[in-house]
Amino acid sequence: MKHDHSPVLPGSGATDYARYMRTDTLLGLQRSPGEVIHRDELLFQVVHQSAELWLKLAAAELAEATDRVDAGELSVAEALLVRATLAVRLITDQLDMLRYLSPVDFQAMQPALGNGSGAESPGWRQVQSASRKLGRSFDGQLAVRGVPAADLCPADLSDPLHRLAEAMVEWDERVSLWRVRHYQVALRIGGHPPAGTPGSPVNMLAKLAGHRFFPELWQVRMHSTADD
Ligand code: HEM
Repeated sequence: MKHDHSPVLPGSGATDYARYMRTDTLLGLQRSPGEVIHRDELLFQVVHQSAELWLKLAAAELAEATDRVDAGELSVAEALLVRATLAVRLITDQLDMLRYLSPVDFQAMQPALGNGSGAESPGWRQVQSASRKLGRSFDGQLAVRGVPAADLCPADLSDPLHRLAEAMVEWDERVSLWRVRHYQVALRIGGHPPAGTPGSPVNMLAKLAGHRFFPELWQVRMHSTADD
């Protein structure tokens, strides 16, 4: 028997797939071949727009992880944080696509970009603020349980508190790895004074690669090796 594919969902779009995924809108969000001033604008927009989607998901998972920490459901929080971490890994990998964008091509598309900068990314901002909230909730749980951060033990996989701390370290590391990879992309594509030149924006990127949301969890590791 032939499967019936006629749409049953409300909304515009020829199929239920198009209606649910809103593909007409989604695929209309990139500049058309007639609008672009350079053919690689499509590559550039696809990498950035898909990063925004993954960051939206990451921020949502982080927000729920934070609620779960507040509720004392640490294992659930850990599982959600692991999902957010995978989203950051995926946007790190997709930076590879930018290897096909040469410095000359990037310069050529500058007029289309106005004064836009990735630093204005709404997804990135949401992820930053969601990470800080997670840190505050985690500190709250440590206080409730009377566990000083210095007593956290990275090797103790049986305790949900320690496992969550490990997942938070992983999150911090993955965000930093994105920054390291993005820094290399910025150097490779150029368009700004080279690294080390006073006032070059890439100096800030190098510095940010060392940023940590949860510095005390990295501090603990230093203590654990010193005591061993
Ligand atoms: C052609 C590729 C890219 C180049 C040349 C580039 C370059 C830069 C530069 C020079 C900065 C420093 C701030 C500024 O001068 O505006 C920056 C910041 C930033 N860019 Fe990019 N970028 C690229 C791709 C991306 C992509 C795909 C994303 C993904 C959303 C992104 C997200 C960011 C973020 C979030 C910052 C703030 C830095 C931070 O918080 O670590 N960029 N970028």
